Amino acid sequence: MISIALLGFGCVGSGTAEVLTENKKLIESRLGCEYQIKYILDLRDFPDSPFGSLVVHDFNTILNDPEVSVVAEMMGGSHPAYDFTKACLEAGKSVVTSNKEVVAKFGVELCEIAAQKGVRYMFEASVGGGIPIIRPMMTDLASNKINKINGILNGTTNYILTSMRDDGKSFDEALGEAQKLGYAEANPAADVEGTDAARKTVILGAIATGKLVSPDAIYKEGITKIELDDVELAQTLGYSIKLIGHAEEKDGKLLALVSPMAVPTSNPLSRIDDVFNGILVNANMVGEVMFYGPGAGKLPTASAVVADIVDIIAKREVAPTPVGWVNAAAEDLADVADYSCPRLVIVEEDGKKSAYVTDEMTEAEAKTLKAKAVYRVL
Ligand code: HSE
Repeated sequence: MISIALLGFGCVGSGTAEVLTENKKLIESRLGCEYQIKYILDLRDFPDSPFGSLVVHDFNTILNDPEVSVVAEMMGGSHPAYDFTKACLEAGKSVVTSNKEVVAKFGVELCEIAAQKGVRYMFEASVGGGIPIIRPMMTDLASNKINKINGILNGTTNYILTSMRDDGKSFDEALGEAQKLGYAEANPAADVEGTDAARKTVILGAIATGKLVSPDAIYKEGITKIELDDVELAQTLGYSIKLIGHAEEKDGKLLALVSPMAVPTSNPLSRIDDVFNGILVNANMVGEVMFYGPGAGKLPTASAVVADIVDIIAKREVAPTPVGWVNAAAEDLADVADYSCPRLVIVEEDGKKSAYVTDEMTEAEAKTLKAKAVYRVL
């Protein structure tokens, strides 16, 4: 019998308990062994939940129980999530997580500890919600050099931008709905200011290059300044405005940024709507592949958490903890000034807005444009 502990019983934590319980027979038949959820760590009590009796408030109960071999961390935030993860790995327990903040900040150290201790640190659920992306990039694309990644990596902002474009909803109204649906971060500023997408972008960049850049070091722009008129005008020219996470290797350096971009209808990312995420990976052997699915939400994210748990229990070696990741130094990061693309320009004359698209230009050239708003074109 394998004993699992869950850290956090919020949206993803309760979803993980649900997936492990509802599909228990199916998962056990695939694994050929039985498992149990032994503990759930949370500050709160859940007397009305069927899992209420499993709740503990002291992390040491889990840490000091040798029966617990797999821990799923779904607390969110850096601390104490990082501290608990580190302690579990050091105690020889494998850890899976949906916590992109911890992976993006501390991934190098945590992967190293896992390797030293012969356990696993896995984070499929940290990028793209329910979409299989980390595992396929590490396994199925292992024969490739990854050239470039462009992704819609945040479900909340994609939901907001789709509601603005298709239903003419205001930013605040759409954000409120995304929060109610359980898509947004505890502090939705992380979604709308691009921080969440930046964390996911640097994780994908590390999978591609082995170098983990601090999410604080990359250029990042969110969606809070986008006006409804801009979305509508872009659409009349055949573009959808999407929040894009971009990572590419350029002259041996990693160029990474998060920015709203005007995506032409010819690009499949223009048709990724609502809470869905889409990730285009350009690699030197396979060409371009796309990953698509629900990018946020309780059960889709829990599905990815449980996939990692199953991988660990099955002792599969196909998707190992990344080895040899290093923290990127400042000189490993390309300057965003090197990002060159056409621009969709919104101008306003006599109170009337119009839009046009330029040829390819650098960031410096784009800054000289006289405009109400300028969007990078993907
Ligand atoms: N707040 C995140 C999003 C949750 O909206 O994409 C999934 O990581």
